[in-house]
Amino acid sequence: MEQYRFIQNELKCEGVNLRDIAASCGTPAYVYSKQSVIDHCRWIENVFEGIDHLSCYAVKANSNKDILRLLAHQGIGADVGSMGEMHRALEAGFSSEKITFSGVGKRDDEIEFALRNNIMSLNVESEEEITVIGEIARGLKTRARILLRVNFDIASETHPYITTGTRKNKFGVSQALAKDILLRAVRQPYIDILGIHSHIGSQITQPSTFVAAAQAIVQLVHELRSAAIPISQVNFGGGFGVQYRDYVRHSLLPVEPENSEANVTTVNLLSAVLPTLRQANCKLLIQPGRSIVAHAGILLTKVLYRKKGEGKTFIIVDAGMNDLIRPSLYQSYHQVVPLFLRNVPHEMVDVVGPLCETGDFFALDRSMPKVERGDYLAVMCAGAYGYVLSSNYNGRPRPAEVMVDGNQFQIITERESIQEL
Ligand SMILES: Cc1ncc(COP(=O)(O)O)c(C=O)c1O
Repeated sequence: MEQYRFIQNELKCEGVNLRDIAASCGTPAYVYSKQSVIDHCRWIENVFEGIDHLSCYAVKANSNKDILRLLAHQGIGADVGSMGEMHRALEAGFSSEKITFSGVGKRDDEIEFALRNNIMSLNVESEEEITVIGEIARGLKTRARILLRVNFDIASETHPYITTGTRKNKFGVSQALAKDILLRAVRQPYIDILGIHSHIGSQITQPSTFVAAAQAIVQLVHELRSAAIPISQVNFGGGFGVQYRDYVRHSLLPVEPENSEANVTTVNLLSAVLPTLRQANCKLLIQPGRSIVAHAGILLTKVLYRKKGEGKTFIIVDAGMNDLIRPSLYQSYHQVVPLFLRNVPHEMVDVVGPLCETGDFFALDRSMPKVERGDYLAVMCAGAYGYVLSSNYNGRPRPAEVMVDGNQFQIITERESIQEL
């Protein structure tokens, strides 16, 4: 069960009225449901029941310390993309043997930090990186465990900025080069090869895209084993899409005319791909980010002004692209709903922020129940790539973060003050 729903006309997170949070903590503010984070994590783990696997939460999706502690407590691992994320993951209680380190440009000090902390593996992206890791491992008199990230040139139906698995993208090495690179790496004295890694993009919603990637991986694993390259792990990455449209429903809310995401769940996507991936006959790793935290979070904001434009109405709110940049960066869709639904006509509006950028919007040409100055709105499904991508642009303090647990809520990150800017 999802944790945000309208009870009568009031939007609730778990047992708390979101209007109470807005009134007590102010806006803009991110709100997270603790139970939602736990549930999404468990749903994934349940799909893997009986399968040798490790889910490593992609810390980049939301690195709030309380959320990290919560996920570490679930016993899963973490995938980090920098020394900062690694530090945060270790501090939150993820055990180092469940941490993977991904990224196309790892610095020497980051590699050294990873090796000194004896993390499970580094997902490497080039032959030169393997050499550098080998040298740093030699200096530390240790061995580095690596997986080679392979780019299978698989196009996905997501936004071009979050497609990572085609030959035009900077990520991984081509399938044609993988075997030779690994044959040379096997001979390196301070390198242990665990397997191969792939991550084809984010917010992928078609099972067939994942199945195509899994088929390519399995074929490569067989080829590599025939060449005596040891493969004990396949890391399939993350990218499992989530439903953003029509996430909360009510008879007073409009329904999106096209909703291709209606049946998108991580459980469905993973269930479709696991039979193929299992043919690799080894430990399976995944690195889900969005699919664990997107539905857990919303951005609360308040209507500052209504403005009639030429042929359209602007709803100007107190949150902006500095708080949630996904719509501006990727033209991402977020459902925007009033926290309290009145029986009023729907109107077509642009929901925009206060920043000096035309790209500062949350919804364009969107049908919504009519709202007035002072009304609170929720930008739904903002738990992933929300606060982590926030900034102080236009001299705006970052918003507060609030955690809901049952009937209680508490501020877990104070709103930045003007003095902290
Ligand atoms: C290497 C890697 N793994 C996992 C993820 C997480 O992706 P998602 O949040 O779509 O699950 C990312 C995100 O970009 C990534 O780059």
